Amino acid sequence: MVAVREKFLGARHFLPLAETIVEASKKHASDTRLVMEAGAGIGYYIAHVLEVLPLSLGLALDLSKFAARRAARAHVRLDAVVTDIFERLPLKSESVDLALNIFAPRPASELLRTLNREGRLLVAFPTEQHMQQLRNSIGLLNIDPRKEWRISRTLDPSFRLLHTQRCQWEMELQHNDLEAFVLMAPSARHIDVSGLPGRIARLGSRVKVTGAVNIHVYERAKHCDI
Ligand SMILES: C[S@@+](CC[C@H](N)C(=O)[O-])C[C@H]1O[C@@H](n2cnc3c(N)ncnc32)[C@H](O)[C@@H]1O
Repeated sequence: MVAVREKFLGARHFLPLAETIVEASKKHASDTRLVMEAGAGIGYYIAHVLEVLPLSLGLALDLSKFAARRAARAHVRLDAVVTDIFERLPLKSESVDLALNIFAPRPASELLRTLNREGRLLVAFPTEQHMQQLRNSIGLLNIDPRKEWRISRTLDPSFRLLHTQRCQWEMELQHNDLEAFVLMAPSARHIDVSGLPGRIARLGSRVKVTGAVNIHVYERAKHCDI
């Protein structure tokens, strides 16, 4: 899983998303000392963010030791910890200036405890249009149409939404990219991957696909003391 994620992201197919997350981080949290990503995977996005915040240190948290090992090597100012983000996070209260949560589960109460009073939380999640062209042809799971509502419900009333934007971009994926994407997506645990090469082989050699991801930036709600 880590190897396919590294292969797919390394091919820069999601670079427009990384660049949008970087711009949002610069805009909303430029004066940042500690950046943390909850469910950081191989540290792809947090490493991009650290690159433009030269005074910041980063901490990548993930349940997978293989992902965390890779994340720890993703940037010279990035460390990684293997932890379940739904347990108490290994961080002091109010120590995080910028918390990232990208395609990952959201531990609202620990995000609130660890984010400092002026801190920002950046959440990125797929829209229903994300990689839509692959959902029927390859059998990827659909994105829950209530995803945005579910995220709001998890984060309200601890956080106040400051800014939303959508990152949409086009990609042309070859068969090996498609296979890597499907294997790294959460769908991989729910679909029959043995039939995957056959389903991919029926597609053209280059498949046009749209990425469509929402990015929400939050601050702590003023009344929310911990
Ligand atoms: C879809 S991946 C996204 C990784 C990374 N943010 C990215 O976009 O490349 C979700 C990540 O969340 C991690 N994860 C899932 N549940 C977790 C938990 N309870 N605690 C820590 N990490 C978790 C997984 O191991 C995985 O690396």
